[in-house]
Amino acid sequence: MDKPTAAENDRDVAMFEVADAYISFMGRFSTPLAPLFADVGLVGVPATAPILDVGCGPGMLTAELVRRHGAPRVTAVDPVATFVTAAATTHPGADVRRASAEALPFAEESFDATLAQLVVHFMSDPAAGLAEMRRVTRPGGRVSACVWDHGGGTGPLSAFWRAVLAVDPTVTDEATLPGSNAGDLTALLTAAGLGEVSEVPLTVTVPFATFDEWWEPYTYGVGTAGVAFDALAHGQQERVVELLRAELGDGPFTMSATAWAGSGVR
Ligand SMILES: C[S@@+](CC[C@H](N)C(=O)[O-])C[C@H]1O[C@@H](n2cnc3c(N)ncnc32)[C@H](O)[C@@H]1O
Repeated sequence: MDKPTAAENDRDVAMFEVADAYISFMGRFSTPLAPLFADVGLVGVPATAPILDVGCGPGMLTAELVRRHGAPRVTAVDPVATFVTAAATTHPGADVRRASAEALPFAEESFDATLAQLVVHFMSDPAAGLAEMRRVTRPGGRVSACVWDHGGGTGPLSAFWRAVLAVDPTVTDEATLPGSNAGDLTALLTAAGLGEVSEVPLTVTVPFATFDEWWEPYTYGVGTAGVAFDALAHGQQERVVELLRAELGDGPFTMSATAWAGSGVR
């Protein structure tokens, strides 16, 4: 193999910076969420069965699925190339591909379980994405999705959004995104043709040694929250940080976050 060029090296470093930024910002909550969500999404699914992780990101749920089913039985997809590279590197032996939920590159009835952790609210067409997840799942298999409770104000970003809205009420938060309110996922899964649909809240609690440890990833520009913070004027940014420090203290503290998890049978 040829030695990588300087440009290729720079690109690879940048790719891993994107994945690392995601892991420090959201992975710290989605990693402990994964085993709780897998418990919901793998009910009745034998450990020898093939399973699919839709919107895998750098591979937080993928890790839990590999732990339970073994890498050769796990397939994962994400539309973002940097995440696909990160997940494939972390989970050799799993089949990791670049694809969106709305156009899954798999034959009908390929998997016993299809899971999407923290993805439905980012899909351009959640109905089409869940319909595709149903299509690639075998009859009797399970389709599941979870989304943080942005609407109910108990998600991992809820304290941040409250502070931002206190400073600038014109900002659009994530409270009305699909799946972000109790009952949303039940309606979406039912509309996608799944049966025996149920929905439960899943709560994780994450410890932080200091306020700065919790806050710093918000300054990386990751996700809707990072972009919204970047867009605030300088004085507004400082006010948001002041409000949050007054609410949370200097640390140590724990932060709990709840997601809605819906699951149905094809
Ligand atoms: C909040 S991250 C969740 C990543 C991972 N599942 C986790 O739990 O940490 C949302 C992921 O959904 C992916 N995504 C966005 N739109 C998507 C779509 N239409 N189909 C599949 N994945 C999508 C993003 O690229 C991103 O990796």
